[in-house]
Amino acid sequence: MHHFISTRELSFASIHHIIKTAETMRKKPESIQNGHFAANLFFEPSTRTKMSFQVAETKLGIAPLDFQMESSSMAKGESLYDTARTYEAIGADLLVVRHACDDWYDELADVSIPIINAGAGKGEHPTQAMLDLLTIYQEFGSFKNLNVAIAGDIKHSRVARSNAYALMTLGANVCFAAAPGFEDDSFDVPYVSMDEACETCDVLMLLRIQHERHAQASYQTTSYLADYGLTMERERRMQNHAIVLHPAPVNRGVEIDSRLVEEKRSRIFKQMENGVYARMAIISTLLNGRSAIYENFTERHQ
Ligand code: CP
Repeated sequence: MHHFISTRELSFASIHHIIKTAETMRKKPESIQNGHFAANLFFEPSTRTKMSFQVAETKLGIAPLDFQMESSSMAKGESLYDTARTYEAIGADLLVVRHACDDWYDELADVSIPIINAGAGKGEHPTQAMLDLLTIYQEFGSFKNLNVAIAGDIKHSRVARSNAYALMTLGANVCFAAAPGFEDDSFDVPYVSMDEACETCDVLMLLRIQHERHAQASYQTTSYLADYGLTMERERRMQNHAIVLHPAPVNRGVEIDSRLVEEKRSRIFKQMENGVYARMAIISTLLNGRSAIYENFTERHQ
C-alpha cells in the first residue's frame, strides 16, 4: 500500500491490520516518525478530519505543515499537481488532501510520496470509514454477518461509499435506507425502510444531508426527521445492543433527534476520538512500508 485513496482497494487483511494498529496506538502511542513532515492540503471545510490528522501526526512525531489556499500560490493559479510536487520537493514525506472533486488524486499520479485521501467530493472518505470500522470493532469484535444499516443521503455521501466497500469486504450484511432521490443505484445493496433499518440493525450509520452538493434545495428539515431520521420513537424500537454512528457534523433535529446525539447508543464522539488512532495507524502503515507489515500480519494470523 503506497497511497490511501479508496477502501475498494483494501483487502480483508489490510483493513484488519489498520484496525489492530489503531488499537495499539490507542493503548500506547509512539513517536516513531520523528523528522518527518506532513502537508495537509484541505480545499473543503473540515473540523474533525483536519484537526485529527494534525493531532495524529503530532503524536507520531511528524511535523504538520499547514496550508491555506487563499495565501498559497494556488491563489495565483498554481495547479494542485504543482503544489503537491512543491511540497514533495521541499521535504514533505506525506500529503493529506481533501478536495471537492471526486477524483482529484488522478492528477497526482506522478507524485511519489504517499497520499492520503481525506475526502474526495461525492467519491470516497476512506479514513472516515476506517475510524467507523474501528468503532464497530471495539463494540462487536468482528464484522462477519453484522447487520449494518447506512441511512440518509447515500447519493451524495463519500462516507457511505467508503464504508459500504469495506464492510462488504469484511463480510457484514449492509443495507441502505434513503429518502426518494437520495438513493445510489451503483451499489448492489438492498434498500429497506428507515423503520426496518432501525428495527433490524446492529449498527445504524446515519449520514448528514449534504446540502452543499445538492443542485437544488432538498427536504424540509422538520418533515425529514419524522419521515427518514432517527426519532425517539424509532430509537425505542432498536435492538438493545444496537449502536448509532454518524460521521458528523450532525444536523441536529434532521438526521437524528438532538436528544439522541449523546444518548447511550450514540458513538458519535467516540468516532471522533477513534479518528486520531485510525489516522495514526494509516500514516504509520504508509510511512513504514506496507509489505513488511503485511507479511508480519499474515504470519500472526495463519
Ligand atoms: N466527518 C468529517 O469528515 O468531518 P469534517 O468535515 O469536520 O472533517
